Amino acid sequence: MELSKKMQDALNEQIKEELFSSYLYLSMAAYCESSNLPGFAHWMQAQSGEELEHAMKFFGFINDRGGRVILQALDQPAAEFGGPTDLFEKTLAHEQYITGRIHKLYALAVEEKDYASLSLLQWFVDEQVEEERTASEILELLKMTGDKGQGLIMLDRQLASRGE
Ligand code: FEO
Repeated sequence: MELSKKMQDALNEQIKEELFSSYLYLSMAAYCESSNLPGFAHWMQAQSGEELEHAMKFFGFINDRGGRVILQALDQPAAEFGGPTDLFEKTLAHEQYITGRIHKLYALAVEEKDYASLSLLQWFVDEQVEEERTASEILELLKMTGDKGQGLIMLDRQLASRGE
């Protein structure tokens, strides 16, 4: 079944969303580096890499379906994030936004009876559950430790151990 123009446009839009996510987390990594939080920076850099993989999943899928990838312009991400707690509040909010986008794509695939897209999007629906869970777990820890002190240093060490 050929990829519809409407689905192709929506998937191309999602490539932009995932690439912007990668760009945003890379900006967060730079912010963490400048805030002397190397573990947070490492976590954000790994997250940025994961978002690029997400973009490439859509990229590969459009091509596999015989569609045409059209890359779009990315906005400049924020550079300042106001401290670790604020940073993870923004991370969680961003992931919730992305979940909303994925759910809209899923609804479109249902409407179009595009079962191949549904299969891909099911992976993303599940992935978003994980993404939100991880961000809110770290946010909860930050609410306990606060934005400085021994607890934050320990959390920074913990985040340094995230795999790529
Ligand atoms: Fe690709 Fe973090 O969602």
